Amino acid sequence: MNITTHSGPLEALATDAMAWPIGTDLKREPELEGALAGLWKEIEAGFAGKQGETMVMHRAPGEAIRRHLLVGVGRQADAMSLHAFASQAARIAAKLGARSLALRVASAAQTRPLVEGALFGACHPRGAKDGNGGSLQELILCGAVEHGSLDAGRIAGDAVNYARELITAPANELGPAQLAGRALADGREAGLEAQEYDEAALRSMGAGAILAVGQGSARPPRMVRLAWNPQHAKAGTHLFLVGKGITFDSGGLSLKSADSMEKMKYDMAGAATMLAVMLGVARLKLPVRVSALLALAENMPSGTALRPGDVIAAMDGKTIEVINTDAEGRLVLADALVCATRLGATHIVDAATLTGAVSVALGSVNVAVLSNSEPLTQALRAAGRQAGERFWPLPMDEDYLAPMRGDISDLRNASAERKAGTITAAKFLEQFVGEVPWVHLDIAGTAWADKATAAYPKGATGVTVRSLLRLVEAMVSTP
Ligand code: BES
Ligand code: MN
Ligand code: ZN
Repeated sequence: MNITTHSGPLEALATDAMAWPIGTDLKREPELEGALAGLWKEIEAGFAGKQGETMVMHRAPGEAIRRHLLVGVGRQADAMSLHAFASQAARIAAKLGARSLALRVASAAQTRPLVEGALFGACHPRGAKDGNGGSLQELILCGAVEHGSLDAGRIAGDAVNYARELITAPANELGPAQLAGRALADGREAGLEAQEYDEAALRSMGAGAILAVGQGSARPPRMVRLAWNPQHAKAGTHLFLVGKGITFDSGGLSLKSADSMEKMKYDMAGAATMLAVMLGVARLKLPVRVSALLALAENMPSGTALRPGDVIAAMDGKTIEVINTDAEGRLVLADALVCATRLGATHIVDAATLTGAVSVALGSVNVAVLSNSEPLTQALRAAGRQAGERFWPLPMDEDYLAPMRGDISDLRNASAERKAGTITAAKFLEQFVGEVPWVHLDIAGTAWADKATAAYPKGATGVTVRSLLRLVEAMVSTP
């Protein structure tokens, strides 16, 4: 999408549509009142400004602004509601066949969430048929636009849409090798160092856990390392982003039911997220060292598949009894986390569609945050507030590790009981990060929207991409 700016009076603006955020306080916008020439009384009578509510006012032929879209934003004008507003405006505009959409930027700080939201709303992964014509070609920002934020918003919004496209790709098209190929090609094009570890390389590294998960598939596992090494990087910081990349999760021999298997192409959302963030970091040219490790495998049942009861060894030598082959995400992540600590990580963030239990705990509203570091948790939550994404911490008491301890091995990959499944999974992961400050993001409940809302279509959400970019940006200036 082309993004332009308009300064000066609205009378000089020509656009197919202009959208206005209207709060429940129904504050009169002098500019809107002027533009609608006395229609404000009618608006007040038929519009409450509730979040998601919309009203389209078509203008007479010959008017420079062809339509006004009033979009309810509820009470708050924070980053989250601005993002939702712009996304909804873009979706409505496209449905009306508009080619251009104007948004008023009331303060410089609004620039980025508005750009990110409009890019989100205008994107239809793989041309998704949500009744939206995809006609939108130009976003016109009016008012207090900040150009640095506009560029950052465009990069972040494109990164989110990149992740959404990858997550939406079906597993028959995107196996571990194909996803690795995309990461290498797109990473190198963005200026990242990129390296692929194939099966043989993983074997010589002793990455027994990811190999075990992939051994049942005709499509062998891969690990990809991406690195952003800027010249004037902040000394002493090397962030690692680790992503779960199960390109399809059948459950393996602990086979999922048809119902719960249907969407499992999105079990690589963590890897897609981290790849997208790396591309964004490179395009923003952030002066921080950041690397990513993508743990890519397909979890399938077959004559060569991992069996329940098998004992395997992760890269650090810890042995794991596989109680349930469907708890495969923590296995591939174990090797990748060890790899990150060995490559000199000073901070680690992982993202994974790890547990169904996270949906029981937090629904599809908040991303679960589990960590061994209070400062890193706080930094992540602050980044989330800036980006307009929601994160909620879960406890990590040592008692939660007890059910994950093995009888004939160091660990087991699933507890005997189903209690606190998101936390016990995180305690398992924690065993592989040593002393490195680490945050685990369980995005199983949030990476895919089952239902459309007024502002967002159903499907891949790209959740955490924007927040993680904000986190890296914040790292530039914090000690
Ligand atoms: N990929 C799933 C988690 C998942 C479930 C993601 C639903 C999205 C929607 C993961 O690999 C898994 O199967 N986890 C098991 C773990 C259990 C066997 C300990 C789960 O949550 O049921
Ligand atoms: Mn699984
Ligand atoms: Zn999985």
